Amino acid sequence: MSDQDKATKRAQWEEINRAKAAAKQKDQSATKKTEPRASVTYKQFQAIRGTRDLLPPDTALWNRVEQTAHEVFTTYGYGEIRPPVIEPTELFARAVGGDTDIVSKEMYSFVDYGVARVAALGNAITDWPDPTNDEKDFSAYKNTVSAFIDTYHRAVAADELHPSSANKPAIEEVQSRFDALRSCSLQNEKSRELASQIIRAIYLAVRIAELGDYVTLRPEATASVCRAYIEHNMQQLPQPVKLYYLGPMFRRERPQKGRYRQFYQIGAEILGGPDAPAIDAELLEMLMTFFAKLGLEGTTLDINSIGHAADNCRRGYVAKLREELLNVKDKLGADSQRRIETNPLRVLDSKLEHEQPIIAALPRIADHLCDDCKTHYAAVKRDLDLRGVAYHENWRLVRGLDYYMRTTFEITAMGLGSQNAVCGGGRYDGLVELLGGPPTKGIGFAIGEDRLILSLQESGKGAAPQGRDVYIAWMGEKTYATAIRAAKNLRNAGFSVELPPTEQKFGKALERASKLGARFALILGDNEIQTGEWTLKNLATSEQQKLTEQALLEYLRRT
Ligand code: HAM
Repeated sequence: MSDQDKATKRAQWEEINRAKAAAKQKDQSATKKTEPRASVTYKQFQAIRGTRDLLPPDTALWNRVEQTAHEVFTTYGYGEIRPPVIEPTELFARAVGGDTDIVSKEMYSFVDYGVARVAALGNAITDWPDPTNDEKDFSAYKNTVSAFIDTYHRAVAADELHPSSANKPAIEEVQSRFDALRSCSLQNEKSRELASQIIRAIYLAVRIAELGDYVTLRPEATASVCRAYIEHNMQQLPQPVKLYYLGPMFRRERPQKGRYRQFYQIGAEILGGPDAPAIDAELLEMLMTFFAKLGLEGTTLDINSIGHAADNCRRGYVAKLREELLNVKDKLGADSQRRIETNPLRVLDSKLEHEQPIIAALPRIADHLCDDCKTHYAAVKRDLDLRGVAYHENWRLVRGLDYYMRTTFEITAMGLGSQNAVCGGGRYDGLVELLGGPPTKGIGFAIGEDRLILSLQESGKGAAPQGRDVYIAWMGEKTYATAIRAAKNLRNAGFSVELPPTEQKFGKALERASKLGARFALILGDNEIQTGEWTLKNLATSEQQKLTEQALLEYLRRT
């Protein structure tokens, strides 16, 4: 073989090898593509601590409770209000009180950066590493500050951002510092030093500017109802205005039985009109009627009057109480000791065993009420007697929110353990005014719906699992259209119907119907379609009968 031939042969051989290698690689990548993906385990989620899903059949009981509230409250002339669940933080700080547990420890609050572009420019300014490194960077920084000021003013003009006591002076500071920065250069050490100082001042001003709104998931709804009363000029309506609400509230408390971080309240408020004792008494009568309608057992209504904020009434009493508490300070626990200064009335709430004899010997508010408050309290009790509403006087009932005056009350129910207060409320005559409205009387309550449900369930008044009226057992393609029509007509007539999405053998279908707790199985096969006589099986008695479509409806309506 000549050298020429040898070279040709080698070239051919190399060509073949290259082709083989390419084919092998193609084959490999093809199999790689079809290889099953490595299995990935995704993280599962759970409801956040203190929150929970309300599920069937329990939700049927929730609906019954809520429906009863709608019915009973309507008979007393209340209309439903649905305020938002999110409100300005300051609303609760002012209404409920800054020193209360709710406001100081338990609120879910956050800054709502309503205008993202202002916040983004603010973040760009505060995150800038060192704008005095070079001229280009310095110039870009100045442009950003200028854009920030400009965007802020435009957002305010468009009513998207509200100048507040925090952001207005901060932006003015940024503006004046920026005016000084504009004439700075990085040419020498002195000028660079001055620029750095101004940049530091701008950084601080942008950091403290609240570029969003402080908002809170409502921990209660009385403040919201008062806000709505003012916002919608309800003082122009015939007074008093009677409103009720249902919905979730949020408090970051330590979860336990009957205490959740998202819980539900059913509440009512009476705003405006006089502070006649009959209003307090009728509100309590309505509450007890509602509980009685639900069959809630073991309820106790505790009432008290905490007077009004004046030296000759509650303020005088609180001063006396503080004095007495200081005398026994060493014998009290840490919480009560702290409360001597912050809110001595709350010491009366203490559940600590060793504090009970000390508290029992403290002065009582009933002996320190002014004449008007005393008369009001006596009249409320008389009116409750007239209405046949049983109550228990509890001089230690002071409630944990700041807005109360005169009548306060709490209702406990059975089966709830330590969290047995199922409802709390009272009079709050100054609250609307405190929130910027006209002087307005007010009284209301809120029921803890979760606790109400728990108590009903504990006493055996829970909801039974929801069955179906009719399970349609259909078989054969021709029967499917009839089964759809039957389901639609029965549902229109108000019956609950289960129509299986695929056909099932009759034995299997009846088994499933029983599992779902259906009362009847409607059996539809070829025979039923041909004759127009449908088979209805009573699943409790196993009796079967043949009925026309019309006769079936009438029969079900009768049974
Ligand atoms: P409150 O006493 O704070 O009053 O709450 C009323 C009821 O809500 C309590 O008696 C309890 O049943 C329920 N509740 C409170 N916190 C929780 C929780 N973490 N988990 C479950 N249930 C809870 C108020 O909220 C006032 N706004 C009532 C009012 C209306 N006063 C005048 N008008």
